[in-house]
Amino acid sequence: MRCDVVAHLLFFIPARRDKPLMPMEFFLDTANLDEIAEARDLGVLDGVTTNPSLMAKEGISGRNQILKHYKAICDLVGDGEVSAEVIATDFEDMVREGEELAEIADNIVVKIPMIKDGVKALRHFSEEGIRTNCTLVFSTAQAILAAKAGADFVSPFIGRIDDTNWDGMSLISEIAEVFAIQDYDTYILAASIRTSRHIVEAAKAGADVVTCPLRSILGMLNHPLTDSGLKKFLEDFHRTNPS
Ligand code: E4P
Repeated sequence: MRCDVVAHLLFFIPARRDKPLMPMEFFLDTANLDEIAEARDLGVLDGVTTNPSLMAKEGISGRNQILKHYKAICDLVGDGEVSAEVIATDFEDMVREGEELAEIADNIVVKIPMIKDGVKALRHFSEEGIRTNCTLVFSTAQAILAAKAGADFVSPFIGRIDDTNWDGMSLISEIAEVFAIQDYDTYILAASIRTSRHIVEAAKAGADVVTCPLRSILGMLNHPLTDSGLKKFLEDFHRTNPS
């Protein structure tokens, strides 16, 4: 038996999921509890990602309120992973903060920025069996470094790259190609998704997970021919089945 499997069994370390993670999972990119509940009730929610800006948008501040809010998100999501981001930027404080976040619930994934101390923290958490998501990834080089350091997820930011007139989706393709060649077991989490089309492109490019606002998921429902087709079906039914 593999020694990492033995370690998981003996020390109850949350097991990394085996590659490949297929089909692509849907995470919601929000700290809004109503939106999380709506996606869950739709039956398509696999996890949640948050960041300090999303927490601020919900008016969540102060250590106790932040921890309480993460707990509420974890409870809503159930088994799915919830990424909670550290604020610290130095190794010792990242470790302290990450350990505190990981204690909230089993499904917490500690989100670490792609900086030098962050890479050290990724390695540390990997050895401790605490799952991590390396955030603010904008290049394949950064993704390789995060994978090498033992990150469970890397988060390339598609929309923010598109905003600078570069092609965010080609980054997903290149990371997917390199991870497959090198057999890295880090999941590619396509982040900073702005549109339903981004979700389709991320699936084509080989993302393991896509994290997106609820509106992008709901946007996947839309097609004018669906609306006109349904209208006609119902009209024909009611014409032949007058009440
Ligand atoms: C998620 O993990 C990221 O923090 C998020 O997708 C960033 O999205 P934005 O570029 O829309 O802020």
